[in-house]
Amino acid sequence: MKTTFQYLGHSCFLLTTNGQKVLFDPFISGNPLPQAQKIDIKSIMPNFILISHGHADHIADAITIAQQSGATCICSWEIHEWLQKQGVTNTHPMNTGGFWNFTFGKVQAVVAHHSSGLPDGSYGGNPMGFVLNLSDLTLYYSGDTALTLDMQLIPKRHKIDAAILPIGSNFTMDIDDALTAAQFVQAKKVIPVHYDTFGFIVVDKEECMIKAKNAGIELNFVNIGETITL
Ligand code: NI
Ligand code: MN
Repeated sequence: MKTTFQYLGHSCFLLTTNGQKVLFDPFISGNPLPQAQKIDIKSIMPNFILISHGHADHIADAITIAQQSGATCICSWEIHEWLQKQGVTNTHPMNTGGFWNFTFGKVQAVVAHHSSGLPDGSYGGNPMGFVLNLSDLTLYYSGDTALTLDMQLIPKRHKIDAAILPIGSNFTMDIDDALTAAQFVQAKKVIPVHYDTFGFIVVDKEECMIKAKNAGIELNFVNIGETITL
């Protein structure tokens, strides 16, 4: 079975890989878009939850989904401590640069250039991205980040098949920097996230598609709720 990607809006997505479900940056109930409001969060039962940083638009539904599913939450040391205080006991702390073999694949936590305060003002440590060595492909999810030269280190260690990158600008990279990021990590295929949810990050999809075509990058917009094969 090939790895599949289901888009749940904003930067939240569910990978199904090697018979396991891996959820990223759970933020569904607070997403104002009507397609996201149709998603029943009670039906989301992942084996793992990866959290890139502490901002509410990446963690708001993490406690609910972790508690209903028993999923292992993979996140920074500081977010791990915070989740433990909220009663989430199944956590796995990482920090940037580190690798760990999980049952769904091998994960490296990588640098993201952003901030990571938690919703109650607690310190969330450094934000991070993830490289995922899965059974059939290697994925890079940058998390919220600026374009950074550190991305050029990633292909020295990994052969990236697809990159999941924010394109909404204002808080993160815009489409132009995301396309440069794809070139830095040597990914030919990009799935965009972190756009259109709020007024600050609305994008012109047609313009993005033209820019990607000119850059020789396959840009795959996925509708909220839709599942694609990677
Ligand atoms: Ni953020
Ligand atoms: Mn964000």
